[in-house]
Amino acid sequence: MLIIFGASGDLTARKLIPALFNLYVARQLPKNFVVLGASRSDMTDEEFRNKVVGQSPYLEKKLEDLKENYIKGFTDRIFYEDLGSDYTAEYSGLAKRIETLNQENGTENNYMFYFSTPPSLYEPIAKNLADVGLNSQDKGWKRLIVEKPFGYSLNSAKSLNNGLQQYFKEPQIYRIDHYLGKETVQNLLVTRFSNSIFEPLWNRNYIHHVEITNAESVGVEKRGGYYDKSGALRDMFQNHLMQIVSLVVMEPPIGDQPEEIRNEKVKALKSLRIMRDDKTLFDNTIRAQYVASEIHGEKVKGYREEDGVNPNSTTETYAAVKFFVDNWRWHGVPFYVRTAKRMPTKVTEVIIHFKTPHHQIFKDSGVNSKDNKLIIRIQPDEGVLVKFGVKVPGQGFKVERANLDFYYSSLAQTYVMEAYERLLLDAMQGDATLYARADEVEAAWEFVDPILDYWKNGKDVRMYGYAAGVWGPENSDELIDDLGYWRNPGENLADDPGYCVIC
Ligand code: BG6
Repeated sequence: MLIIFGASGDLTARKLIPALFNLYVARQLPKNFVVLGASRSDMTDEEFRNKVVGQSPYLEKKLEDLKENYIKGFTDRIFYEDLGSDYTAEYSGLAKRIETLNQENGTENNYMFYFSTPPSLYEPIAKNLADVGLNSQDKGWKRLIVEKPFGYSLNSAKSLNNGLQQYFKEPQIYRIDHYLGKETVQNLLVTRFSNSIFEPLWNRNYIHHVEITNAESVGVEKRGGYYDKSGALRDMFQNHLMQIVSLVVMEPPIGDQPEEIRNEKVKALKSLRIMRDDKTLFDNTIRAQYVASEIHGEKVKGYREEDGVNPNSTTETYAAVKFFVDNWRWHGVPFYVRTAKRMPTKVTEVIIHFKTPHHQIFKDSGVNSKDNKLIIRIQPDEGVLVKFGVKVPGQGFKVERANLDFYYSSLAQTYVMEAYERLLLDAMQGDATLYARADEVEAAWEFVDPILDYWKNGKDVRMYGYAAGVWGPENSDELIDDLGYWRNPGENLADDPGYCVIC
């Protein structure tokens, strides 16, 4: 039984129920599964079913061609419990409802609690569940899934961890990071550890630098209020991008067991060189905000004009960080990681830039500026691309760059699961590999905290402006040593690719 706290919220309708529906269609759900939505809205089971299935804009397309009876087979498994005015009021009513559903459906006391609520409610909900014995695994398993943001800083993440661990044991806690549910993020592990052609090269001897880009074309949409208190570093970097970094950086695990993989990820995150002094932070971090522009003749709002955003806001919508990893494998290899809203396109990719050959034979071929690259495209067109030099036919040795590529879309018959589908299924089966452990989350905060602190309090810290629709402030290219530019997969959409200092 999946019990969702905050079930009347957007995430349930937009992600969780559609993911469960896809699992239902794919026959991955047990016949006796039950979803119990719980929140403070006054709704009947029927009203809730209508909201999240029947009338849901997120399922509309999928339901079109399906028979009513078939859809009903799913909808009938969904229930709703009104928690009254307060999540912190005691849960004996909820416990009774769970027990009744358990008896009626034979769910064998196996419960997964999904916290889709503000983090301030995580501990009170966990306590309330414990008070009515719903943390005990004497009969059946009990698991918690908690959504991001997991903390606002290192301290708040620690107190969230401590709060939850008072009532539930660490192996019962599943911290969701939906990037880990993306097929291509997991493929990073396979690319690295199942190919003898890559692993020997995966170190400072052959890699010049690593670049990770996460770009979104959308702005903050309707989430201005939340985003303005968060910013790109907290919203994307501390969690999703740090997870990707850990998979690129980690040492080979002994095996594929969850704890083996997670141990290596923690070690990787702990080896990131934490930047503490103002000069290092000034030289290696860039923050910026999108400003109004025109894209294809249409005016686009600047960040400070968005709903819910303070007109004097100093929250970043662009964050770029250069850093080093202090271990044997990565000594001296710079990592460049950036994330932003309102860029020309939506794309996430990891680029491994290999060193140029040690001895240049084809000196005039122009190959120097064309290093070998391995590009792991996480989205939208999931795949892997290797860029390498080939001879241009004809006299002499002119070298051009060619591509060897693989796209998941070319695998006919293969259904690439949505992140939430995969993650929910894993949690039901008790597999925590793709969930963040407490020490992992804390290690990521250890790295991010000083940057946040510097951006808030640093004397010489700047906020740059970039036109909505371009690849960030132009001076961000200065961050990249030697090469002097980021790989931008696409053209700027607005005419104004410069930058300005806005505070
Ligand atoms: C969320 C962030 O975690 O990830 C959003 O809060 C962001 O701001 C989203 O838009 C991006 O996810 P995806 O899967 O679309 O890259």
